[in-house]
Order: sequence, then C-alpha cells, then structure tokens
Amino acid sequence: MTSRRAFLAGTAALPFGGAALAASAGQHQNHGSGHSGGHGGHGGGVNGATFRQGTQVDHRANGFDPTEVLREFDYGTTSRLPDGRVLREWEIFAVDHEIEVAPGLRFPAWTFNGRVPGPTLRCTAGDRLRVRFTNGSEHPHTMHFHGIHPAEMDGIPGVGAGVIAPGDSTVYEFDAEPFGLHLYHCHVGPLAEHIARGLYGTFVVDPPGGRPPGDELVMVMHGYNTTFDGEGNQLYAVNGIPFHYMHEPVRVRRGELVRIYLVNVLEYDPINSFHLHGNFFDYYPTGTRLEPSELTDTVAQVQGQRGICELRFPYPGRFMFHAHKTEFADLGWMGFFEVVE
Ligand code: CU
Ligand code: CU
Repeated sequence: MTSRRAFLAGTAALPFGGAALAASAGQHQNHGSGHSGGHGGHGGGVNGATFRQGTQVDHRANGFDPTEVLREFDYGTTSRLPDGRVLREWEIFAVDHEIEVAPGLRFPAWTFNGRVPGPTLRCTAGDRLRVRFTNGSEHPHTMHFHGIHPAEMDGIPGVGAGVIAPGDSTVYEFDAEPFGLHLYHCHVGPLAEHIARGLYGTFVVDPPGGRPPGDELVMVMHGYNTTFDGEGNQLYAVNGIPFHYMHEPVRVRRGELVRIYLVNVLEYDPINSFHLHGNFFDYYPTGTRLEPSELTDTVAQVQGQRGICELRFPYPGRFMFHAHKTEFADLGWMGFFEVVE
C-alpha cells in the first residue's frame, strides 16, 4: 500500500491535478467502500492505468458544481408563526452518491442532498428552524448542528431521536442562535468516516439586520481519504472538487466587498489553513462578533473551526489562494481569484 508521504512524493510535481494524480489516488478506491469496480468507460481500474485525461470532472453527473456552490445559499421555505417570528423549513436527505472527484476518479461519498459539501443553510438569528431529515443512505446517520439548542435536538446517538436508521426520518427544530458562521454534520460512529465520506455543510446565521452587502462566497475546506485507511487524505479540496478554482477562478470585482464564509471540516489532518496572495483580509472568528479580530493574509483552523474573511481587491488580475501547507496545496487545495473591473 502506498504511504501518504510516498504518494505525495510521487505527485507533488502536478500542480494542476493531472491524470497521474487521479490514477495514484484511485489505486485503492474500492477499498472498504462497499462498491465494486466497473465504473464505466472512464477508468477506475485498480492499476490506475485507464484514467481519463483532462482537468475537469463531470459536474452534471456529480449533481453540483463548485463554482455554483460558492454563491448558493439555501434560505428554506418561510412562514410566520403566531407570535410573528419567522419559521424556516428545509427538507434534507442523506444519500450515498458517487462523485467524480478528479478526472476519472470516483469516490463513493455519503452526502446530504447528493452533494459535497451539503447545502449551505442560511437564516437570521431568532428564526425558528425546522429541518426534516430523511435517511436515504444505506448507513445510519444524523444531522448535528453547531449552535445553541436543546439536548434532544443535538443529533447525536442516544439522545433525542438518536441515530436515524436507513429509511427513517426525523425533525430537528430549534431557534437560530447565536448569529455567526456554523456548520452541521453527521454524528454517527465511526465519526471520522461519516465525516470523511462527505456528510457536512455550512450553516449561516445572519445577525439581526444582516451584514453590509457584498459578494458572498462559501468555502468549505475538506479532503478525500481515497484509500479508506483512515490515516490521511489523498486529495484536498474546497467545495467538493480538488483544484476546481485553478481551472475556474473565482471571479470577483475590483474594489467590491468580498465576504468569504470559510469552514474547515477536514478529517484526519489536525489543522487546515487559508492563505491569500497579494491582499489582506479582516477576520471574524466564528462570525459571532461584528468587529474583526485580525487583519491578516493567513488563518489556521482545526476541524469544526470557521470564520468570516472580508476584503476588497485593489488590483485586477489573478491572485492565488491555498492552504499554507504545501502538501495540501499540491494535492488539490489551491485556487485563483480572478479580479475584474
Ligand atoms: Cu453518518
Ligand atoms: Cu461539529
């Protein structure tokens, strides 16, 4: 079995995630996945010899496109409660879904609503939230939200509805608090695998009155342990697909306020980071205060940590962003902003 370091040594010269990267990452892709081989005409052979060339994956087949995930906010369906408060409702389902994570390399993901990361749920502090969760996966799951809520709504085994078996459903209902940038994820054991398979998403609670208008972007940092050895990741990504924003830079306007909701859910590695070239940003840890704590160009986050980055680009052109951990960057966690007039 290829060790993580040996793997890296063999692929570090592939800044754009070429076919060799996919081939190496795919050597053990069927390991413990419950899926057999035969992924169709685009390779997937265990010897890695038949991987498709190119830089792009099939976003349509995947069911999501990281360029769209960036600016997709799901506000749910709203109505008014008798006391005048907003009731916000979502339908979320867990489903096992294969994702082409690198050209020709399919990862047997477990997902919320068929995508990695799951939908970005957005509300305002004080809303009443009602999430109807249906488990359409072959494995037991939950939805565990970060936030302040009663114990029985915590989405963990043995408390409240507990583990939701395949085919079952439940309703998580609680108030949106505190305002800030949060996340949700499955909390069934083995927890590392349930998260690493893709069961997580962003949960934004806006402050009353909102934040100043801007070009808002969600970036969820995560990885893929394609060998299923539980010892590390072979690919790193933002919003589902390694190297995606190298191929399709994030287009923003010069001088416009850009707000990045940055979340780290990376499993197996203790720390992730975000570094921006040619610029600095105001950083709001967890988004729970309206004043930034720092002006910087690099932040580190452990798993579950998140924060809001606000900035304006004074110069047009291409500016790189990536994990300030070369190993992660070389294996997918890098991209570009394209600043236009
Ligand atoms: Cu799960
Ligand atoms: Cu968590």
